[in-house]
Amino acid sequence: MKEPISSKDLATLIQAISEPAISLSLDIRRAGLLEHVLGQQGNLNVQGEAQQKLDVLADEAFIRAFQSCGIVCAIASEENDDYLAFPSDAGLNGEYVVLFDPLDGSSNIDVNVSIGTIFSVYRRISPKGTMPDLNDMLQPGTEQVFAGYVLYGSSTMLVYTTGNGVDGYTLDPVKEQFMLSHETMRMPENGRIYSMNEGNIQECEQGLVRYIQYCQSRENQTGMPYSGRYIGSLVADFHRNLIKGGIYIYPEVPASPQGRLRLLYECNPLAWIAEQAGGLATTGRKRILEISPTSLHQRAPYYVGSKWMVEKAMAFLA
Ligand code: AHG
Ligand code: MN
Ligand code: MN
Repeated sequence: MKEPISSKDLATLIQAISEPAISLSLDIRRAGLLEHVLGQQGNLNVQGEAQQKLDVLADEAFIRAFQSCGIVCAIASEENDDYLAFPSDAGLNGEYVVLFDPLDGSSNIDVNVSIGTIFSVYRRISPKGTMPDLNDMLQPGTEQVFAGYVLYGSSTMLVYTTGNGVDGYTLDPVKEQFMLSHETMRMPENGRIYSMNEGNIQECEQGLVRYIQYCQSRENQTGMPYSGRYIGSLVADFHRNLIKGGIYIYPEVPASPQGRLRLLYECNPLAWIAEQAGGLATTGRKRILEISPTSLHQRAPYYVGSKWMVEKAMAFLA
């Protein structure tokens, strides 16, 4: 049984996340007016994706915050090929590693649509006093001690779990503080929203094609076609489904044979939140949190959302 994170360390990490998140949120609100927010950076990241200016800005801001908080020994993020062990004291003595997607939904930055930050925190495995190593970063999702996201949506929210349910905080932009607004969030066990990039449907396995036909038919439990909703920012699609009930699917497709989403800093943190809110997260066949990762930017097919909907989709795949 893993030991929950102490409230002191939790407060330190929430502070480390809130500062850059609030400052990013303020920048995002004025995006069209600020030279440094919109547009491409001009580089590709390790996954061959064009980095947006905000991807890089967010990455640097969170790295600085984690490094200076004193209890994080290493980080890994979507925007860095390798993990980064912090030099000197923090690297040697910090107890935690953080894996994060600094800016989720990059393609939505320039078009004023919701985007987010996703994070996942583990205790290091390597002994304190030594430098952290790759094994500290490659732990199964069941070992997370703190995970969550910031959604820069119509309001900015911080949603997280430490293994004792899920709470949501809304940013008061006047006070520049996150205030508890959504206590003990529960994901409805059933829903009538499905979210996937249906442009890919002809490339998907037959079981999934049939499940989507079931969603669109009157044969499902509601007797009416479900609503299709796809924002294209995982964190925003997930948040809506967390509140309203629904399923989000990013399957294996020929262009992304392992799925598109990254296990360590997209799938795992949201999987834990889903489970803590009463939902499920699987690859369509097995529980996401039990996958033993083998590389930092590893991908996984992803079926996450309301319990009964994920179970139904899995029955179609079986
Ligand atoms: P990121 O912007 O961090 O690279 O993540 C994008 C992810 C996810 O947010 C989104 O749901 C999905 O990619 C969209 O992919 P498609 O454009 O293939 O639908
Ligand atoms: Mn992402
Ligand atoms: Mn990203």
